[in-house]
Amino acid sequence: MISKVLVVGNGAREHAIVKKLAQEEVEITSVMAKLNPGIAKLSKRVELMDINDPAIYTQFKDHDLAFIGPEAPLAVGISDTLTELGVTVAAPTKALARLEWSKAYAREVLDRNGIKGNPAFKICKTEDHVRAFLDEYPDVAVKPDILTGGKGVKISGQHLTDRKETEAYAHKLIKKDGLVVLEDKLIGKEFTLQAFVDGTRLHFMPLVRDFKRAYDNDEGPNTGSMGSFSCANHDMSDLPKATISKAKRTMQATIDTVRKEVGPYKGPIYGGFMATEDDTYLIEYNCRLGDPEAINVLSLLETPLTDVGYGMANCRLPKISFSKKATVCVYLVPEGYPVAPVKDQPIYVADGVQSELYYASVYDDVGIIKTTGSRAVALLAKGESVTEAREKVYSDIDKITGRLHFRTDIAKGIP
Ligand code: AMP
Ligand code: GLY
Repeated sequence: MISKVLVVGNGAREHAIVKKLAQEEVEITSVMAKLNPGIAKLSKRVELMDINDPAIYTQFKDHDLAFIGPEAPLAVGISDTLTELGVTVAAPTKALARLEWSKAYAREVLDRNGIKGNPAFKICKTEDHVRAFLDEYPDVAVKPDILTGGKGVKISGQHLTDRKETEAYAHKLIKKDGLVVLEDKLIGKEFTLQAFVDGTRLHFMPLVRDFKRAYDNDEGPNTGSMGSFSCANHDMSDLPKATISKAKRTMQATIDTVRKEVGPYKGPIYGGFMATEDDTYLIEYNCRLGDPEAINVLSLLETPLTDVGYGMANCRLPKISFSKKATVCVYLVPEGYPVAPVKDQPIYVADGVQSELYYASVYDDVGIIKTTGSRAVALLAKGESVTEAREKVYSDIDKITGRLHFRTDIAKGIP
């Protein structure tokens, strides 16, 4: 019997996890770096601390189950720490989370085992390696081999204007980290495929599309995300079934391989994929739920999350179902985000908001919710179609006021 559940993290994704758990018969403890007022309201116990410090976790050893939201604690092995303390953990170990914290490792796992999904790539350790790859592939994605919160990847033509700039960035990363990953620049449609994994089996979640650029029409700098949508049939309306099957096979083969090479992967996994004109490619793995993708899928999850978490950790996934609805999620961010965001500005939520509201990076200043400079609030609506969900979410957006910006074209044109 699960009665005490620990949730690590303080973003909108963790708000979605806690909101789902709050509908179940469990007591929630939340460990956060900064207080998220939405999470705090739903938790029995709240601890504000450095979530990446293994030493703080001893006090939670009486918990039955733990969910770890963000990547940083996974990369320092908080899952291992909690397991050693006797807590059942619905998240992968540090060794398995390497699929996320090292882009070079993820590429090598696929390459070594003949798993389809890699674009042309090279792990460059010298300036000569960089030059040789650029001679063959002039347009590239340059990726640091460490976690950068989604902000370290630079793409030719988007963030890198010419070869000189590309070489300079790649060389800087080699100096700093010892290596850099260069990949052929892919052009196509991106999608997110997430799965609950119990070491062996994967239960795939509804597909989601994430909008990363700051302004309408996919213009402006990359952000943590400005919104996302999922379709009622759980596929992506503009992708053929064969594309989705390929992505699923890549993910299943990866889990099978790491089980043999490292150990059983237990927890959610996230594949960012790109469907180009000729094939389906893996962009990256994340060893956690996505933000905002978690908000889309958890709002549809019909099975208790406690059962799913316990099943993943104990190599016995339960029967899992998601309601057949479409979802649209829109983020409200501080004006100027992500380059020069206004901070410490009040946000007001008027009465009558029908959409689900998730707090991201905000704080409670004596009863007034204020921005921090990072994403502030996510709104999510469900519908029979994406169009219906979209209409609902945008009809609520003016009820959230403050010095905020949002994209007006999330899921635009999707039936
Ligand atoms: P990542 O941190 O690997 O997700 O990269 C951030 C973003 O860069 C992705 O969501 C893609 O939009 C883009 N990206 C990453 N790798 C490639 C690639 N090989 N070709 C084109 N775009 C890429
Ligand atoms: N939506 C992108 C991420 O969670 O990394």
